[in-house]
Parts: sequence; C-alpha cells; structure tokens
Amino acid sequence: MTRLKIALIASECYPFVKVGGLADVVGGLAKALHQAGHEVVVIVPRYAAIDGLRFKLQPFLSPLGVWMGNSQEWCAVQHADYDGLPVYFIEHDHYFGRPGLYHDPEFYDYQDNVRRFGFFSRAALQLCRDMGFSPDIVHAHDWQTALAPAYLKIWHWDDAYLGNAASILTIHNLAHQGRYHADDYDYLGLQWGNFTSDKFEEFGGINMLKGGIYYADLVTTVSPTYARETRTPMGSNGFAPYLARRGEDYLGIVNGVDYTQWNPALDPHLPHHFGPRRMAGKGRVKAALQKRMQLEVTRDMPLIGVVSRFVDQKGLDLLAGSIEAIVSDMRVQFALLGAGEKGLEWYFGPLPGRYPGRIGSYIGYNEALAHWIVAGADFFLMPSHFEPCGLNQIYALKYGTLPIVRATGGLDDTVQQYDEATGDGTGFKFWQATQRAVYDVVGWAVSTYYDRPQHMRKLISRAMAQDFSWATQAEAYLHVYQRALSNKRSLG
Ligand code: ADP
Ligand code: GLC
Repeated sequence: MTRLKIALIASECYPFVKVGGLADVVGGLAKALHQAGHEVVVIVPRYAAIDGLRFKLQPFLSPLGVWMGNSQEWCAVQHADYDGLPVYFIEHDHYFGRPGLYHDPEFYDYQDNVRRFGFFSRAALQLCRDMGFSPDIVHAHDWQTALAPAYLKIWHWDDAYLGNAASILTIHNLAHQGRYHADDYDYLGLQWGNFTSDKFEEFGGINMLKGGIYYADLVTTVSPTYARETRTPMGSNGFAPYLARRGEDYLGIVNGVDYTQWNPALDPHLPHHFGPRRMAGKGRVKAALQKRMQLEVTRDMPLIGVVSRFVDQKGLDLLAGSIEAIVSDMRVQFALLGAGEKGLEWYFGPLPGRYPGRIGSYIGYNEALAHWIVAGADFFLMPSHFEPCGLNQIYALKYGTLPIVRATGGLDDTVQQYDEATGDGTGFKFWQATQRAVYDVVGWAVSTYYDRPQHMRKLISRAMAQDFSWATQAEAYLHVYQRALSNKRSLG
C-alpha cells in the first residue's frame, strides 16, 4: 500500500468542535487513516467555541497570507495534537471569533458565511503550501469546504505543492448547499467565467456545493441509499442533474463509528458497563437513566430513546403528532434529548409534566446524557424524513438498543428489518412519513418486547455483533482516493 498524504479540510471535527455527525465522521475517519499508516492533517477553523486550554492549542504559524479577490488577507494558525494526529486551526477573529459556527443564537445564518468559509477553504490550501505539505488527497466536506476542490483546479493546478492533489468532496447533507448573494463572488476569486449555471451560479446567486460537485475529482455521500435517492428529483434538493452528471464518480460510503468513543464495555460517560455476554449492566444503566430523567424506575416497561437535533429533517413532527396517543395506549416510556427549532422545544420540553413517569425530556446539548440514552433505552427512535447516514442508530446497535427507523438513506442501509417469523433482523423499519406509521411501528416494537422476549434476545445479540468500525469504512475511502488519483491523472 502506498502511503498517502491526506489533508482533511472541514468545518467540524470531534472532539474539538461538534454540531452534528459531521464532526464525528471527520474525527473518526482522520484517526483511522492515521492509524492505517497514512500521513494525515486535519484543518478546521479556530472558532471561539473551541476550548483552547482543554485541547492545548499552540501557536503554529503567523501570519498566513491568503489571496481573496485581488488582495491578500492575513490570519494565523494554531496547532493541537490528537493522539498523534496533527490538527491545524485557521485563526481569523473577525470570521470565527463568534458564538456560533454557522448562525447566531437565534438560528439566523451569518450573512457572511460565504466569505467565512470561502476564506477558510483557501487558507487551508495555503497552509499546506506554507508548511511544505504536499497532499496526494484533499478531502473536503459539505458546502463549507466545497470551494477547496474548485480553488485547486482554478488556482493551483500547476503548483509545486498542490498541483498533484486529487480532490474528494463528501456530501453529508444536500439540504444545506451554501447559497449566498452574488455580491460576494468577487471576494471568492473564482473568476466570473465560472459563474455559470453548471458551476457556481443558481438563480442569480452563488451555490457553493454545486461548484464543489463540478470541480471535485470524485464526489461521495454517506450511504449508498442516499446516493441513489439523491439521483432522483424527489430526494436531491434540485441537484439530481449535477449528481447524475458525475456518473460513477458519485457514490455512497456508510459512515464508520469510533468504537473507542461508543462502546458499552468502555464508555467513560456511563455509570455501569456491559457487553454481549454480560448484559446486567444495561439494566443498571436503564434504571439510572430512568432516575435521572424522572421516569418511573421499572425493569419491565420498554423505554424508547430519542437524541436529535430538532430540525425538519429528523421527522420529530411525526413523533409530536403521535407520542401522546402512544403513551396513552401503550405501556411504554420515552427519554428525549434535543434542541433546535423552538416549536419542537416548546412542545417536548413541558411534556413530562403532563405524562409524569412516562416521558422524560431534556432540551439542550448534553453529550453524557446522549450516551446514557443510547445505552439505557430498549429502543432508539429515528423517524427521519430523510437521513443521509445517521450515526445514532449505528451507535445504538452496539449497545443492544434496537433502532426503530424510517427506511430512508443510511437508516435503511444500516438497520435490518425484524422478521417476525424467524426473529432475524436488528431493528424495526417503517416507510410512510406519517404519524400513524410512527404509532404503528412503535406498537410493533412494544408488542415484540412484551410478547416475544426470545426474539428480543436474538435481535439484541445480532445488533450488538454489527461492526461499522472506521478501520473497515476507511478502507472504502482509500479505494475512492486511489480512484480519484487515477481520475486526475487520466484528465492530465
Ligand atoms: P446529524 O448530523 O444530522 O445531527 P447524526 O445521527 O449523523 O445526525 O449525528 C448526530 C450526532 O450528534 C450524534 O453523535 C448525536 O449523539 C449527537 N447529538 C445530536 N443532538 C444532541 C444533543 N442534543 N445532545 C448531545 N448529542 C447530540
Ligand atoms: C449529516 C446528516 C447525517 C449524517 C452526518 C454525518 O449531518 O444529516 O445523516 O450521519 O451528516 O455524515
């Protein structure tokens, strides 16, 4: 195997800064590639939200000059070590010294996001040059860094340091494309000749992701089913033609999991531990979770967990429309954790007051509680309208917490349907995006819990045996990297 030099350029990376699954993927993939012997660097913005003391950030380089439009802009670079993996942080106070990553506390997008992330993408490439790191692969993620492949092709094609790099763009969510006003196009320095409807232009504005899809040597997304869905007009947010144009150079790879972070036998967040052959600990975590969330502490009532960003994608409207009927008609408990849209927060927040002992909810972001719920619940519900991959259901499998999911995107790829005749499968799937379908599938899971305990045991043991470790998934990325390199070579 040739040792590759890989630059991962992203807007989030666990453990330094995380909003959602993107951070877990960037951190996990980088670590796995590093452990497989490749030379990997990760480059992220130096947000105010990153705890410099905790992560021992050190000054690395100052100043770093970055050409934007036709003038040079200056920033600095910090460095941290993540188990031997170098992580670099682009420091630019005006752009990143704010409370949020992408939006203000009221959830309004920062209006200069196109400048912030355009600058960041260009700065990340400049950093590679200035520190003499000549990558074989530049791997960008989502709209935030989608301009990196474009800068490589437009500005660095004959560069001594960057000219040989092949670029990969991974799409984690097509609902977010980075659409901004054309007034900022000059600043990006992408040349007006490229402001066309197949590259950056859309309805007179800029679409960052679209440009990335055009310029990357290879485009991936985070599950094969989402890759298929997004080739159709229904699932593509308008991108089907651009993705279809990439032919076989657009494909899906299911996300991996960092089982040092998500493992019931080792999980540092948990009060008790367990594994496939010693399940008593799971019952203890369930009791501790029931207590913590003010639920009735009982062994024999099924507990359904939900951990989610409260955004349209996640289908919590379907749960909001069915949860009261569910707890009225079935002997079941819910433990809910999430934050986001105010309407959902206002609904789920006070719900425990109306169903004491049966519904527990916590509005906010709480990493430890997320682990408790994934570990202590019997089922884990994700009724997503769409889900590019989804990580929580994969974590849940390892903890013997059976996923109940809508069969879309990565949820469909990672959960095997329960077969009532044989007891095979790893979870419960439903198809229709309706409140009724959520009610019915929960009813199916709950009746399995009460009426077919032998099947529950089979499902749980098969779920816990599933392996989505990054070591395996990183292999799939390495194949893609090789293909991207040969794509690039064949195009000269
Ligand atoms: P997405 O990235 O679309 O939010 P994923 O399932 O890929 O969906 O990843 C979500 C990640 O964010 C998981 O690691 C999950 O545990 C975490 N998460 C989401 N909401 C919260 C929350 N309120 N508190 C703690 N962790 C959360
Ligand atoms: C996005 C998607 C989610 C996916 C995550 C990591 O946030 O919504 O489905 O798991 O990215 O790829």
